[in-house]
This record gives sequence, structure tokens and C-alpha cells, in this order.
Amino acid sequence: MAIEVVALPLPSSADPSKFADFGREVKGVDPGQLTDEQFKEIQELLYKHDALLFRNTNLTPEQQYALTKAFDPSSESYGHGNNKTGSEKKSVLHPDLKTIPRVPQVQLIGNGTVYNHEGLAEAMLKHPSHTTFHKTRVSEEDEAKGITRFYRWHIDAALYDLSPPKVTTLYGLTVPKGAQQVCRYDDGTGDELPVPLGTTAFVSGKTMFDILPKELKSVAVRTSVKYAPHPYVWMAPAHALPTGLGIETEGLELPYSELPAWEEARTKTFPMVWKNPVTGNLHFQVHPCGVAELIVSPLPDGASKEGALFPEGAHLKDLKEVRELLYKMQRPAIAPPLVYPHDWHEKDLVLFHNRGVLHTVVGAFTKDQVRAFHQCNLAASDDPTGPTAEDVLKWA
Ligand SMILES: [Fe+2]
Repeated sequence: MAIEVVALPLPSSADPSKFADFGREVKGVDPGQLTDEQFKEIQELLYKHDALLFRNTNLTPEQQYALTKAFDPSSESYGHGNNKTGSEKKSVLHPDLKTIPRVPQVQLIGNGTVYNHEGLAEAMLKHPSHTTFHKTRVSEEDEAKGITRFYRWHIDAALYDLSPPKVTTLYGLTVPKGAQQVCRYDDGTGDELPVPLGTTAFVSGKTMFDILPKELKSVAVRTSVKYAPHPYVWMAPAHALPTGLGIETEGLELPYSELPAWEEARTKTFPMVWKNPVTGNLHFQVHPCGVAELIVSPLPDGASKEGALFPEGAHLKDLKEVRELLYKMQRPAIAPPLVYPHDWHEKDLVLFHNRGVLHTVVGAFTKDQVRAFHQCNLAASDDPTGPTAEDVLKWA
């Protein structure tokens, strides 16, 4: 049977013109048992469309690991390192993940208590909540009415020592039914987005770049982003913005001297935009919470200096300045019409191009709403590639 590809069901909040290329549902193929030919086709589709949905799938943890690994055959360990989530107790990621004992690259995530699950006798899962991460929170009264927030916009990546995974696979096993919620931005814009309960929200990094004004595109292609060492431990005492798109600058980050042992050579500095290996498009890929510094190169020879920002280059180390610039560049792309909130059904498998999108957990469950998902991504065998010299000339 030939592979069939159809558009993803967009919610009425979405601007269809911005999703012409983004996301596809794939039919007529079993993602757990792909032939080499089929896999090649799927891989190409993923890089072209950034997110692929398969419905009614049956996928063992072993099959999920094999599928994820096929995108980067020499990758081995989970994106944050195998079994690391228990040892780095101070990390903001610690409560969110439980490892499947048989296949440590696959994590069990969700909400509520799950019994006798793939070798785990009892797993207590907690859906991450903005109430423990954001500086401000939705009042309990509003929360009872179904108001919620984006938790944390991110790329799946350790951002220290390990390279950002190419692909993440998310497999919904138990999906609680419940009323829609309203995700409120609470940043003074009045923006809000109706969302299915417990959605995973995606935005395109390509769109994030494409909608920038000329002077910020020029900055984007010239900038490298330096992440803090052990960024999830570093940011743990700090609080996020109400949109979940970065951290409030209050001086609360852990001083580098108090972090677990680290080496400069293992810190990560990535281009601000990453080049799609199939389409050649540029995707704005920054995990704003973990960023410590921005290094802007001077304009290349021949580029016009008129209206240019940082024409001579810059090294921004002031966290407030760094974060304000990033927010200005990233916030337009999380506007309600540009967000795809996936409406999960049981046995949905979503593959997303982790080097081409940003995503976030959304919403709040009650304790008795049990949700169980398997998630897999693998620290990549290489770092992402930035814009070519030609790209820089074109956009600078
Ligand atoms: Fe994630």
C-alpha cells in the first residue's frame, strides 16, 4: 500500500496560509515496521513538513527507539543522557521523566499513577505545570474555569555536552478526555488560544525566521547562541515569563560556581538559525530559557549598513539585554494564529523535527486524570548546521 499524506486538522485559531507546508498525517504504513524504502520517504516528509502524525498505531518501546534511531543511526543515548534524570535532582527536568527500564532511551511521561507499565510496577507521573515554573500564575479561580498557560517553549536538548536530537517521537497511550482549556498569554497583549486538554503545542522555526523584519533577519543569520553550562540546573531557581518563552531576569540563576562540575569545552554554542538538511530553509532554533550570551558577527563585506543592528558585531552578555532581544525575535511566532495545538487521541504517534520546531506542554490535569505517553529522542551524532556564507550574504 502506498504511503498517503494528508494535511493536519488545523484548529479555527490557526492561519492556514502559515501552515501550508507544516505538518502532515501519514496513512497506509506501519511506523513500527517500515521498510528501508518507506523510512526514506518518511524521513524526507519529516524534514519537509516538520511534524508527522500517525493514527491508531501499535508501537513497542523497542520499535519506538528503532524508529527514532533510524533518523540518526550512530546516535545512542537519550537526548539528555540515559538515566541522567534521576542523578541531576536539582534540574527542572527531573520530575517530568521516568525511564522505561528495558529501553532506557524511551521515557514515560504524563500524569497520575500508572501501574504495571513496561516493567515499572508503579510510576507516579506529574504533568509539568506553569504554577511551579512561571513567576506569576493563573489564579486558582481562573484555573478552575479552564484557563491555563504554555509551560515552556523549547527544543528537546541537553544544551550541554550532548548535541540536540534530530527527531522526537511522542506516542500517546492513555489520553484523558476533558473540556477544552484556554491558554492565556498574560503578557499584556490579550492574546489567548483555545486548546484541547493536555495539548502539545508546536510552532515552526522556519516561520519564526520568515516573519522577522529585515533588520532582525540580519541579526539572526549573524548570531551564535551560547548556552549556560548545565542550563536546566542553572535555571532551576529562576522563574519563567507568563508565555513560557524565556526567563524573567531577576538574578536568580544558580551561580556557575554552584553548578555540578562542568568544563568550558562541553558548553554549547549554536547558530541562531539552523539549516534544514532537505529543504535548505533556515529555522530559528533557540531554547530561550537556557541562553547565557549572544555573539553577533559584523555585517559581511558588501552588506548595506543602512538600518542594520550591530553592524560591527557585538557580544551580548547582559542577561536582560540578551533575553529582551530574543523575546522580540521569538514572540511574534507564538501568536495564536501560528500555533498548532495537537489534539491527542490514544495511539497517536507524532514525529517532529526537533531542529525545525519549538514546542511546549500546555494545560493542567487533575490528579485523577491519568495520561501516559512514551517519548524518545536521541542525542545527535553531530551539532546542527547554521546558515551558509551565501545565506548570510542574502539575509544580512
Ligand atoms: Fe519536549
